[in-house]
Amino acid sequence: MPDSLADRIWDRLQTIRDDGLERTLRPPSGIDFSSNDYLGLSADPRVRQAMIDAVARGGAGSTGSRLLRGEREDFADVERKFAAFKGTERALYFSSGYLANIAVLTTLAERGDVIFSDELNHASLIDGARLSSAARVVFPHSDVAALEPLIAEYSAEKQAFIVTESLFSMDGDIAPLEDYAALCRATGAALIVDEAHAVGVCGERGTGLIEEAGLDPDSCVSINTAGKALGVCGAFVAGPEWAIDYLIQRARPFIFSTAPPPSVAAALMASLDIIVSEPERRARLASRVSRLHDALMANGLALPCEPSHLVPVMIGDNHRAMAAAEALQAQGFDVRAIWPPSVPAGTARLRISVNAMLDDDTIDRFAAALADVFRKILLSSVSSVVESSSG
Ligand SMILES: Cc1ncc(COP(=O)(O)O)c(C=O)c1O
Repeated sequence: MPDSLADRIWDRLQTIRDDGLERTLRPPSGIDFSSNDYLGLSADPRVRQAMIDAVARGGAGSTGSRLLRGEREDFADVERKFAAFKGTERALYFSSGYLANIAVLTTLAERGDVIFSDELNHASLIDGARLSSAARVVFPHSDVAALEPLIAEYSAEKQAFIVTESLFSMDGDIAPLEDYAALCRATGAALIVDEAHAVGVCGERGTGLIEEAGLDPDSCVSINTAGKALGVCGAFVAGPEWAIDYLIQRARPFIFSTAPPPSVAAALMASLDIIVSEPERRARLASRVSRLHDALMANGLALPCEPSHLVPVMIGDNHRAMAAAEALQAQGFDVRAIWPPSVPAGTARLRISVNAMLDDDTIDRFAAALADVFRKILLSSVSSVVESSSG
């Protein structure tokens, strides 16, 4: 039994190190096959300049909560713009997608309600459901047939919520949103959709998979992160007036937190303008996705799901996944391994992301390198993968 908190934590750290599972902070290096900057907007000169101008105009910080002295026109402007883009009555900006998910689930779901949560949902949705006073039922991944009887069983006389990502961040597959919407209409359940990896990219207008599924955007509450395809940071919760108004009144992560710097709202105005006016960026990303999928197939790698800009390469064993990522990094490709608890035990993987800035030659070279590393992983021990790929 360790005798102080420090001893206990050092023990825990030692176990992580002994297991070879220590996580390290590693800045970007090599060609980007791992960021969420799908459209390359984080570096766009117009987005950068909008942020610089806003800092020059309004200072670095917001100085308070939005309900106190932290409120600025920049926030109201960008919220109006995002709501118009998404096609919802209202939108509310949060300083991160993580906090937005916590806010939505802890504020809208109450004691006596039931949250039905997809088993592969992001940690922020899991944490939001855990922190809420509602009961939680985890349902098998995207399995509407399994969910239907669960709703009948658990939610009599209570408000039910179906909570899902639209494009799953670690698996690259798409939730059956039309089926969930139909189930909500039939049962009175409410639909909460995390569009983190779809907003800016999916749908004819780039507003996300709610649009692609043909749903009324106000028939659900969506969380749309602004730090991925939108290239900045934060997240918009979008939906009907009543939901947004109530979040302003009651959402603790909104009320009890300093507002983000107003400059991020200004940068997001520029970023949304680009997404609306330059659909060719989405088309370019789609062509990059097809190119990578075709190149991987040509190199003998079959992928588990429909092509999207998120490509999981399942490896299983943690150390093999790490060795595969290291081998690709050694060849100049910035690929990261993901292992438990970020993903379920036994499903360590490479999470490869595609962005619109990649050219054909880079994609082809990467596909060949990935296929080579994958074959070595299957055939050999962990240490020889790193040695032979980098040597
Ligand atoms: C599906 C999903 N939801 C929410 C978040 C959290 O968003 P943010 O990074 O803005 O906190 C992420 C980010 O990793 C995500 O992948």
